[in-house]
Amino acid sequence: MTNKPAPTEVAIHELIAGRWSPRAYSSEPVSREHLRTVLEAARWAPSSYNAQPWRFLVFDRSVDEVSFKQAFATLVPFNQGWNSRAPVLIAVTAHTLTSKGEVNRCAQYDAGAAAMALVLQAHALGLAAHQMSGFDPNAFRTAFALPNDVDAIAIISLGHYGEIDKLDPVLREREKSVRQRAPLADIVYGGGWKKAF
Ligand SMILES: Cc1cc2nc3c(=O)[nH]c(=O)nc-3n(C[C@H](O)[C@H](O)[C@H](O)COP(=O)(O)O)c2cc1C
Repeated sequence: MTNKPAPTEVAIHELIAGRWSPRAYSSEPVSREHLRTVLEAARWAPSSYNAQPWRFLVFDRSVDEVSFKQAFATLVPFNQGWNSRAPVLIAVTAHTLTSKGEVNRCAQYDAGAAAMALVLQAHALGLAAHQMSGFDPNAFRTAFALPNDVDAIAIISLGHYGEIDKLDPVLREREKSVRQRAPLADIVYGGGWKKAF
């Protein structure tokens, strides 16, 4: 299944409505050109003071299977299950300190913005991308010798869409279910906390 557009309350751009988090990958590798394109999109994300705190660690199964397996091993078992064919994992990490050594309280926000740019670009290329917090950040830190001031925030799996029939029955149904969000009226306030917009 390659297409699961959001049933939006208001019409929005297809790139945003059409991006979703699939779980069925084929094992086809992602070309170097496509990888560079999604990473370039991430590079152009905005950040507080233009600090660009994000750092991406790319694990391409077709290039370096050993490090791919090391990164894969840090995923929680549920995520390992549906990622068994995923050809690429991209870890999103961020420097948590500014150049002056102070805490950058926007580091995670900025890294999230870069990750969103990356997955939107992936969608624009017809690729499937799925962000995950379900991994062990300490195990990841140890495996890849992250400096103390760098946090591992998420891992994104990236690949080509695969057959949903190869997923287990529960995930197969989830793949087909309608995407859901809280109504706009529940998440937007006008002029004060809980005031109607
Ligand atoms: C930071 C973050 C962490 C996530 N972690 C996981 C995860 O560990 N496993 C998983 O299957 N999906 C994970 N997701 C995907 C969400 O479940 C998904 O984005 C959400 O259900 C909305 O679905 P949609 O992206 O298709 O609109 C994560 C998404 C984000 C943004």
